[in-house]
Amino acid sequence: MSGRARAVAHPNFALAKYWGKADVAHNVPAVPSLSVTLDAMSTTTSVSFEPGLDADEVTFRGAPAADAFAARVTRLLDRVRAEAGLGLFARVETANDFPTAAGLASSASGFAALALAATAAAGLEVDAAGVSDLARRSSASAARSVFGGYAVLPAGAPGTTRLPAEPLFSADHMPLAITIAVTTEAEKSVGSTDGMGHTAATSPYYAAWVDDAPRTFARIRAALAARDFEALAAASEASALTMHACALAARPGLLYWNPTTVRVLDDVRAMRRSGLAAFFTIDAGPHVKILSHPRDADAISARVASLEGVVGVLRAAPGEGARLLDPAATDAP
Ligand code: DP6
Repeated sequence: MSGRARAVAHPNFALAKYWGKADVAHNVPAVPSLSVTLDAMSTTTSVSFEPGLDADEVTFRGAPAADAFAARVTRLLDRVRAEAGLGLFARVETANDFPTAAGLASSASGFAALALAATAAAGLEVDAAGVSDLARRSSASAARSVFGGYAVLPAGAPGTTRLPAEPLFSADHMPLAITIAVTTEAEKSVGSTDGMGHTAATSPYYAAWVDDAPRTFARIRAALAARDFEALAAASEASALTMHACALAARPGLLYWNPTTVRVLDDVRAMRRSGLAAFFTIDAGPHVKILSHPRDADAISARVASLEGVVGVLRAAPGEGARLLDPAATDAP
């Protein structure tokens, strides 16, 4: 065992949303989700199990990580230590090359990179499904970032313990561009874990969401298999809007959108009426992810950049899954 490993992973965005858990203790989703992993934006994480440490030392961009994040890292490392029969604490260095929080899915890329780096550093023989299952226990969407292209995370049942994501199609399955309209620089108020817990506990629409989500998921999966952009657009927007409708109906309601979010949503619909192939999705934050044919991406990006309140535009395409990097390279972490 080398004791040290470094991995990189990218965020993914769900077209069929995960929102709600069948088993909170095991972090098992109540609904199936389907996502696309991006080629842009990445988290790089290095893990080094070292003698002489009396606790895990977690740094984020060179500074000590926030306590809540460090505790989540340690919970993942504890699972790896138990599996590997390892008694050493670890030095963990992690950095994102994109804004954290604000709904840009840093926990997905973060826990995918951590799961891969930690299992490799501990010398565990784990395949991609094993890495995905480990990442899922920390943050379910992270299970999908282990795979490139399009991935599925099935729903589980109470008591499910093992549930990895599965690769569905490679990144070149269909031409697709992703344009992210960043609608504020402020951090989001309610994170996904708390938001979905509150929704499940208080929204009268939660049962309807859990009932409907598998059908919408099946439509999204079939549209993607057939490379049917219009059907994919309709079903993906339905998944995002139904998830938000369910969260809006929680008591008190969760409103992740700001006025600029709505302006962008409205504009994407106007784009479609004018003949551009584009649709939106929105996660537990105010930014809007626009999926389109690559030939329209320049026009879409210029158009949303000029909308009042849009503070930035990021561009991506479907990309690769998590992978190991040379731990000795000097461009830390
Ligand atoms: C709205 O994976 O962040 O982005 O499992 O509690 O860590 P935990 O939740 P998380 O939730 C992601 C929710 C979402 C939809 C999605 O990515 O499917």
